[in-house]
Amino acid sequence: MKKLFIYYSLTNNGDVVANTLKKKGYEIRKVISKSKYPRNKFLMIMMGGYKATFNKKDKLLDFNKDINNYDKVVIGSPIWNDRLSAPINKVISLLDLNNKDIDFILYSSSGKGEHAKDKIKDLYNIEPIILKEPKKNNKELDKIKNM
Ligand SMILES: Cc1cc2nc3c(=O)[nH]c(=O)nc-3n(C[C@H](O)[C@H](O)[C@H](O)COP(=O)(O)O)c2cc1C
Repeated sequence: MKKLFIYYSLTNNGDVVANTLKKKGYEIRKVISKSKYPRNKFLMIMMGGYKATFNKKDKLLDFNKDINNYDKVVIGSPIWNDRLSAPINKVISLLDLNNKDIDFILYSSSGKGEHAKDKIKDLYNIEPIILKEPKKNNKELDKIKNM
C-alpha cells in the first residue's frame, strides 16, 4: 500500500509529523509557499492569520499534484487563526481528494481548530487529528501511531 504525506510547516512542527510518518513507510511531499512569511512572530501571526481568515491560497513552488499512485493520502497543516494555513488551502484546491482514502493532521498551539474542522467536515466528511505542538510534546505523536 502506497501512502503519501503532503504537508506545510512554517516552524517545524509539521516536520516532526513528517519524520514520524516517514518511519511508517509514507512518502513525504513538503509544500513550499512562494510567500515570504516574516520571522518576527507577531508579524508572522498577523500575515498568516489574515490570509487564513480570508481563505487565501498561497502560490506554491513546484508543487507536484499527482496523487494517482497512492492508496492513502494524508494532508498536514498548521492551524492559523483557527483555520487551515494558506499553503494548504491551495493544496486542497489543486487535488481531487474525493474517492481517496484520506486523513488530515493539524498541528496547533492549543486551539481546536474549529473552523478548520468544519471546512474538512464539509468538504470530505472526516474529522482531522489535532496535535498540540508535536515538536515540544512528543507524546502527541501517539495520536498518529496507527496511521
Ligand atoms: C499565522 C499563525 C497563526 C496561528 N494561529 C493559531 C490558532 O488560531 N490557534 C492555535 O492553537 N495555534 C495557532 N498558531 C500556532 C501554530 O498552529 C502551531 O505553532 C503549529 O504547531 C505550527 O506548525 P508548524 O510549526 O509546522 O508551522 C498559529 C501560528 C501562526 C504562525
